[in-house]
Amino acid sequence: MSSTDASGGETMGASTSSGSSTTGDTNDPTTGAPLECWEQPGPWHLGWAIPEPAPIDGDPVEGEWALLHEDYVSCGVPLSIFNLGKAFLGTYADGESLPWRDGENANLPYNWTAVTSEGGTELAAMNCLTCHAGKFNGELIIGLGRHDADYTESFTSLLSLFPELPEFTDAGKEINKFISRYDALGPYIQTETIGTNPADNVAVILASHRDPQTLAWSDEQLIPVDPPVVPVDTPPWWRVKKKGGHFYNGMSRGDHRGTMMFASSLCVDTTEKAEEMLGYFNHIRAFLESIEAPAYPWAINEELAAEGEEIFECACAGCHGTYDDDPELETFPNLLIPLEVIGTDSLLGDAAADDLGTLVEWFNSSWYGDVTQLTVDEPFIGYTAPPLDGVWATAPYLHNASVPTLELVLDSTKRPDFWRRVDYDSTNYDRDALGWPWEATGGQDTVPPSERRHIYDTTNLGYDNGGHTFGDHLTASEREALLEYLKTI
Ligand code: HEC
Ligand code: HEC
Repeated sequence: MSSTDASGGETMGASTSSGSSTTGDTNDPTTGAPLECWEQPGPWHLGWAIPEPAPIDGDPVEGEWALLHEDYVSCGVPLSIFNLGKAFLGTYADGESLPWRDGENANLPYNWTAVTSEGGTELAAMNCLTCHAGKFNGELIIGLGRHDADYTESFTSLLSLFPELPEFTDAGKEINKFISRYDALGPYIQTETIGTNPADNVAVILASHRDPQTLAWSDEQLIPVDPPVVPVDTPPWWRVKKKGGHFYNGMSRGDHRGTMMFASSLCVDTTEKAEEMLGYFNHIRAFLESIEAPAYPWAINEELAAEGEEIFECACAGCHGTYDDDPELETFPNLLIPLEVIGTDSLLGDAAADDLGTLVEWFNSSWYGDVTQLTVDEPFIGYTAPPLDGVWATAPYLHNASVPTLELVLDSTKRPDFWRRVDYDSTNYDRDALGWPWEATGGQDTVPPSERRHIYDTTNLGYDNGGHTFGDHLTASEREALLEYLKTI
């Protein structure tokens, strides 16, 4: 086979391929030296290398503090009633507190931050960890995507369970403001299954309500949009140090602070507020880039893992990079892979480039666009092949959380059409298949309404579990070795 598009692999030194060569597929066409397995022709040559952004100065320690204390989300629930009513908020407020946080924060669930409104009311506001902290083996890990959050219910109906506050007080105004923001988000952020996240829709709807230059909020949409709910899996933050393009479709390129800030723009209604945030988001970015993947906590069969490494280098490394105990020796090609090559659910990639194109224009022409530009179809629509550090901890898999275990990622023929997690207990982990124990079910239509949200129904729009067939050709014993290797990286 000859490589079609040789632009991939630019960051991999000698691997720039140049069409079919006279020295054969396994030698470097210029030097004649043997190519590493992952440099030989493969589907990775259909990918495009996303350029790395310039590094920026930031202090990870200050960044972690800012993430857990600053008021980048400045609206929320008055503290007085939050503490009484947080049980109504389900998985939004069921987290443990982090006693090392300063002041009032030490008593709040880890994903809420105490902030003060302009009128002086103490509020509890949700921070990034609402989605970006999750449990593995019973332990909360900051940076792991939360895999058991429930976005199947309307958040405003949960908020309506709080006691009413007199409207003329500042506290009353604040809770009404918070409720009105969630009213605007409404049904656009309700997913079908526990463990899928509507963050992309949150961003799109917030944009549709704001003036791009002044960031002023309007209760009515300024750009009328009616997007489908795109379900996504929250990716782990320890990947971002290697990623040139953030998000599954690699759309955030360059300085990523613009998109990171936009992720928490619920109540950022002025450019002054955004400018103030930009001043500490370089530290937040530095913190995110300092996070390391956890180490596999149980025994590893090193001999089997070494066999798996060879398989990985020939079948996977061309897209996912190479791994080493010494990070300096690792390589990562940062490839965007065309949708038709990866073959996973296309809703996310297509919607960003198509129906939601006007909101991409909104972003790029907005205050945020001066910091980061979104690029959704250059040079084509695709998904990025992510770094696989600590991937055993990040079930469920694929961008839409459609596959419960790594074993099934590596064999598309065995993936169930309908499945549910046996429970949401993070200590109940399948160490053979590497992922969450699951059982096959009927479709969502076959169960009572109260059961629907537990079922992952791949016939729903955006929930397809096909594609990524790159492990299908492996024998059962090769797959077992490969899984063993994935525990080591
Ligand atoms: C409502 C849940 C939610 C909140 C809150 C949230 N995120 Fe995210 N975040 C996500 C999801 C889901 C994605 C993946 C979206 C995609 O790629 O399409 C994501 C993606 C990212 C990425 C890109 C990761 C990658 O691998 O490409 C970064 C960086 C990030 N978020 C940072 C933040 C920061 C910083 C905050 C707080 C200021 C934040 N997020 C708040 C859910 C959330
Ligand atoms: C042609 C490039 C390519 C090859 C070859 C490839 N992958 Fe991938 N891989 C991707 C892309 C792109 C994604 C993201 C797909 C998505 O989320 O829809 C992905 C996703 C994954 C994920 C899911 C990550 C997560 O957290 O959801 C795993 C695990 C994975 N690949 C492992 C492998 C292994 C192991 C191999 C070798 C058998 C392999 N891949 C071969 C491109 C590739």
